[in-house]
Formats: sequence, structure tokens, C-alpha cells
Amino acid sequence: MYSTPIDAPFGAQVHLGTGNRLTEEERLELRRLLVEHQGLLVVRDGPLSDERHIDLLSALGRLERAEDGKPLRMEVTNQHRETTAPEGELIFHYDYAYDPVPNPVNSLYALDITPGCTPTLFASSATVLDRLPEALVKRLKQLEAAHACFLDRLDAPEVRSQEPDPIIPRGEAGWGPEHYWARHPAIFRNSFGVETLFLCRQHTDRFVGLERAESDELLEEIYAVLYHPEHVHTHVWAPDDLVIWDNLTVQHARPEPVDLPRTLRRYHLSEVDYTAEYLRIARERDIVEDAIALEDSKTGPRAVPPGEAARALIESLPDARNPDAFLFTRHAEGRGEWSLTNCWRTVCADAGLGRLRLHDLRHTAASQAVMAGENLSLVGKLIG
Ligand SMILES: [Fe+2]
Repeated sequence: MYSTPIDAPFGAQVHLGTGNRLTEEERLELRRLLVEHQGLLVVRDGPLSDERHIDLLSALGRLERAEDGKPLRMEVTNQHRETTAPEGELIFHYDYAYDPVPNPVNSLYALDITPGCTPTLFASSATVLDRLPEALVKRLKQLEAAHACFLDRLDAPEVRSQEPDPIIPRGEAGWGPEHYWARHPAIFRNSFGVETLFLCRQHTDRFVGLERAESDELLEEIYAVLYHPEHVHTHVWAPDDLVIWDNLTVQHARPEPVDLPRTLRRYHLSEVDYTAEYLRIARERDIVEDAIALEDSKTGPRAVPPGEAARALIESLPDARNPDAFLFTRHAEGRGEWSLTNCWRTVCADAGLGRLRLHDLRHTAASQAVMAGENLSLVGKLIG
């Protein structure tokens, strides 16, 4: 596997070499290339089966699953209407920027396209940090922005939505599409360790705590640099192209559509499925011989031994021995009502931990284990 430059301000073409499943080394190499080339990779190695597409993407994380447990397959097409956003222009956005946990990585494969069909535009939110004045970057590091779905204003960013007060978290009573709002730091580091700006024209409503006019002015100043034509990459689709991009450091757009057939197959990663798995842990059924048995983790089935404190806490639960009771509960009626993200936020707020991501615990656990003298191979097995 190797990469070559493309005619773009960021990104690279990856040459896979063989049609075989990726080896462990190649999986690591693909991750490295995604970071090295600023979050955009293009593969042009001929026809790509669903299986191969899934194999490539799984090197970068966990694919979002459909209800049947299989990777969620979507088609972005202008050939029928049973698809997301079948027609029209889409201004620059990150998919699900308005979600507390947006997709880490997206991919599109040119399944059935006519050359000359509508291209896809990409802009890098990570590389723009080097082009903004230092004082501005410093200020942005102190700011959070509110993002909304704005399904009704795809082409009209000047149309405002009203942020509900309070925002009801996903899954709780009263929650609905008008609560598709999330706040994210204006600059943060993604799970690949890349520092990035996280603001986009379609979903970002305003900076939290700033007057609307001041917030709009600041956003326009940033967008003028971010979307400068010199820094935007236009991907012109050719049959069998696969484009993989980091959805937190690279944003995308669809210009005014050309009326030519265009069907793109999409798979994406989602961290949210991790939470779903934990929510399904039953207190007794899944805690076998002092370990929590996970049917499906990032590395397949595995057993996670809870620490002493966690075990004592589980034992102290009123329903500890009820095989049908779940470990994380909110509503008596059962599964899916309570997202671990919301639960985690409550725990952090109660413990005064501030903005700590669940994922950060993995790194902390690994560091603590290494400091306690454990060897790296055991630490690797421990955190999966
Ligand atoms: Fe999109």
C-alpha cells in the first residue's frame, strides 16, 4: 500500500496493491495515511464490493450498524427518492454536526455514475487553523458553538431556528427533531489526535455566549478563509472511485446538481453504537465469572472484568440478581430509552469532571496501567 498526491490542497490517493482483505499492518497504515493526508483519501483500484468497502472502512473504526446488526448501507442517489437528500444543493457541512457524537469517518463509492455528474466539494477544517490569525485561534479555543440540524434551510443559512430551552437529550421523554441541537468546542482534537476547527455554514448557528451580530461577524471572517476557492477540493466522480474522509476535520458540500445519473454507496463509522452495546448489558446474564461479556466490541466478542469498586456497586444495586435488569437504566420499560452519552454527562456533572469524553477513559486507563508497571501487550488486551 502506498499513496500519491492528488491535485488538491489536501488529501491523497491510496493504492491498495491487492484485492485481499487488509492485513493488520495495512489497517494501521491506512489510519496513518488518513492523518498524514489531512483526512481525505481517494481509492481508484477498480470495482469495489460491499465486503471490500466495509473491510477498508473498518480499519478506521467501527461501522454504524443497522437494526439487523449488519453495517448500515446507504445510497446517495438522484435515481429514486428513498434516500437522504435526493436533490438540490447542499452547503458545506459535517454529517450530524448537531449530534452530541457526530460520525468520525464517512465514505462514498461511485457505484453507478455518469461522468460529468454532480461533484462533491471538500474543505479542510483542520488545515484552516494554520491560515487564521494566531489571536483568533486563541480566542476560538475558549469558545463553544451551537449546531442545529436546520433541515428546513439547506440552501438558506440566513434562516434562523430557535434553540429549545431546555434541549431535551435524545431518547428522553419529549425529545424530537426540534431538539437536534448540540454544542461542541470551536476547536478540539478528534480521536485520531488531530486538532481541528468545528464550524460549518449549514449547521453552526452561533457561538455560545456571544451576541448574534458579533457571532455572525466572527463566523463570516472564518468562513471567508475556510471556503476560499483556493482551499476547496472538487472531487469529480469517476466510476469506482472511493472517497474516505474524516468527518470531524473535513467538511463536504454538493454544488447545484447536474442532471446526470449519480448513485453513490455510503458506509460510515459511528461511535454511538458502542454505547448501544453497553446499554444492552444485563446485570446477571452478561456478567459471567466476574467479567462482563460483550457480544460485539471493536475487536469482536470479549470479556471485560470490572474493577473492585464497580463490582461492589453492581452488587449493591437493588435489582442486582434480576437477570432481566439492565446495568444502565433510566426507564423501567427497558432498552434504548437512555443513551450512555446522556448518562455519562450526568455522571461528569455530578462528579465535577467538566467536559470529559467517555473515550478519554480508555487512554487514562491505559496510561495508569503502564505507570503501574503493566506491559504494553497486556494493556492492549485490556482496553481492546
Ligand atoms: Fe453530507
